[in-house]
Amino acid sequence: MINLKSWFLLAILSVFLCTTLGSDAVESVLRRLDSKRAQSVVQESAAKGVLQRLLPAHSHSFEFKIVSKDLCGGRSCFRITNYKSSRRNSPEILIQGTTAVEIASGLHWYLKYKCGAHISWDKTGGVQLASVPKPGALPLVEARGVTIQRPVPWNYYQNVVTSSYSYVWWDWQRWEKEIDWMALQGINLPLAFTGQEAIWQKVFLDYNITTQELNNFFGGPAFLAWARMGNLHAWGGPLSQNWLNIQLALQKRILSRMQELGMTPVLPSFSGNVPAALKKIFPSANITRLGDWNTVSGDSRWCCTFLLSPSDPLFIEIGEAFIQKQIK
Ligand SMILES: *[C@@H]1O[C@H](CO)[C@@H](O)[C@H](O)[C@H]1NC(C)=O
Ligand SMILES: *[C@@H]1O[C@H](CO)[C@@H](O)[C@H](O)[C@H]1NC(C)=O
Repeated sequence: MINLKSWFLLAILSVFLCTTLGSDAVESVLRRLDSKRAQSVVQESAAKGVLQRLLPAHSHSFEFKIVSKDLCGGRSCFRITNYKSSRRNSPEILIQGTTAVEIASGLHWYLKYKCGAHISWDKTGGVQLASVPKPGALPLVEARGVTIQRPVPWNYYQNVVTSSYSYVWWDWQRWEKEIDWMALQGINLPLAFTGQEAIWQKVFLDYNITTQELNNFFGGPAFLAWARMGNLHAWGGPLSQNWLNIQLALQKRILSRMQELGMTPVLPSFSGNVPAALKKIFPSANITRLGDWNTVSGDSRWCCTFLLSPSDPLFIEIGEAFIQKQIK
């Protein structure tokens, strides 16, 4: 049922993007995002990093270059050509792309269609590169090159509940592997939900909510999604300060890498889910206690969380405070 909830969220998002935003508005969002991308050298080196981790022996066989969208009539694309040079040990294949994600997905395209390789999650076959010829013997592409345009501006990835089912147990190495996989698959709009409790802690401490009261609010690591969505509170907790700090540091690494690769990470924001203690501090705020939803036998120690009405001015204030703390 949680999956249904997050699907619903996505459905709202896509209906919003399709109806509220006309194509002009989409273009203007894209222009704004493009103007904030990491510098070309940063993206080229991030794409090189993906190659080095994937195929270290071939790190000199490919040359990567960020190019303007003019190459593809204003769209995102990658272009694969044979590298022309008479130098010995020169690169063999040149991959140009409008972002590092386009370059990495071009690399994946080349390895898949020209070398018969397979790159996926471990559970769906993992990385199978035995068919890739040795450096110096890579297959050429057709003389005019291969140009592939991205058919839609964004490729979104992640279910909001996966945070606590899977990612919460991951260290940086595991994240790096997943972000590499995202880039190779052309994902450019990934969810970045790690460490949000550390931000909420800062926000609510500013509202004089104590650490103990927050312990009664945050769910434990395996139940983050349930607590974030207001289905339960405190269950499986509390979260230690050390854990919160580590998650926040991890989030900063995740975001940096996503940005270096030219992705647009999707950050969390405020849904109205608040600690019970907020009602004491703002007695006149419109805060409703929710009913039990599939949790811990309706035990009020863990069930029935508090929701601040989106029409209450405090909603906007807390929502802004969260974004301010997050971008700081
Ligand atoms: C928090 O407590 C401080 C010190 O008692 C007080 O000045 C401040 O107004 C309080 N903030 C809120 C949001 O209640
Ligand atoms: C409180 O919030 C609920 C839910 O958003 C809304 O239906 C209700 O009208 C609000 N009450 C007041 C007094 O604003």
